Amino acid sequence: EQGRKLFAGPVEFLKGIVAMSGLPPADRLEVCFAGRSNVGKSSLINAITGRKALARASNTPGRTQEINYFTLGDSRYLVDLPGYGYANAPVAVVQKWQALLRQYLSGRQTLRRAFVLVDARHGIKPVDEEIMRLLDSAAVTFQCVLTKTDKISTAERERVLAQVRENLAPHPAAFPELILTSSEKGEGIATLRATIATLE
Ligand code: GTP
Ligand code: MG
Repeated sequence: EQGRKLFAGPVEFLKGIVAMSGLPPADRLEVCFAGRSNVGKSSLINAITGRKALARASNTPGRTQEINYFTLGDSRYLVDLPGYGYANAPVAVVQKWQALLRQYLSGRQTLRRAFVLVDARHGIKPVDEEIMRLLDSAAVTFQCVLTKTDKISTAERERVLAQVRENLAPHPAAFPELILTSSEKGEGIATLRATIATLE
């Protein structure tokens, strides 16, 4: 309901792309979601759009292997990037993802912000650092979104916040404000939705 109000026009899956040649026309602002496999990207997309099965949420890590485009009304694209850091993925597959990711992050003019999703239980890992460095060098502003906050205690929350802030500090492309979310309980969903809706 609220998703529809904030995003005037259709909220739907547009296409999955496996190469830059498949990108839709750069005719509107877009944001992307990046994060380790299983961090909760698809669940978060479902939560902010209010659609239970818009992005496929799964228990199988590494399921989202394409760059998936969703329309958030007529004026925004939401882009679900392939999950990284999935240990069992074949090397050739990982290298192909990384190449596409690099091309996409450095070559997409209309990409306004990347949301780097980090599991609140785990904090920032070396593979997250890698993507943050990539975003720095592509000069794409990124904002860290903690996921699955329903799974941690108040004490753990303080600890992970400190860890994340410390790790973000040296990154020139990092946006200082964090967003804490739970797709399960709804924490932070309205904030994230409004953040995306109000980007210019
Ligand atoms: P890949 O596309 O496979 O990389 O995963 P993903 O990042 O899209 O994660 P997905 O949304 O598929 O969620 C992975 C698992 O975490 C699923 O079992 C979800 O039910 C669970 N999950 C996602 N978000 C939350 C949350 O906010 N709270 C809890 N408790 N579980 C969550
Ligand atoms: Mg997914």
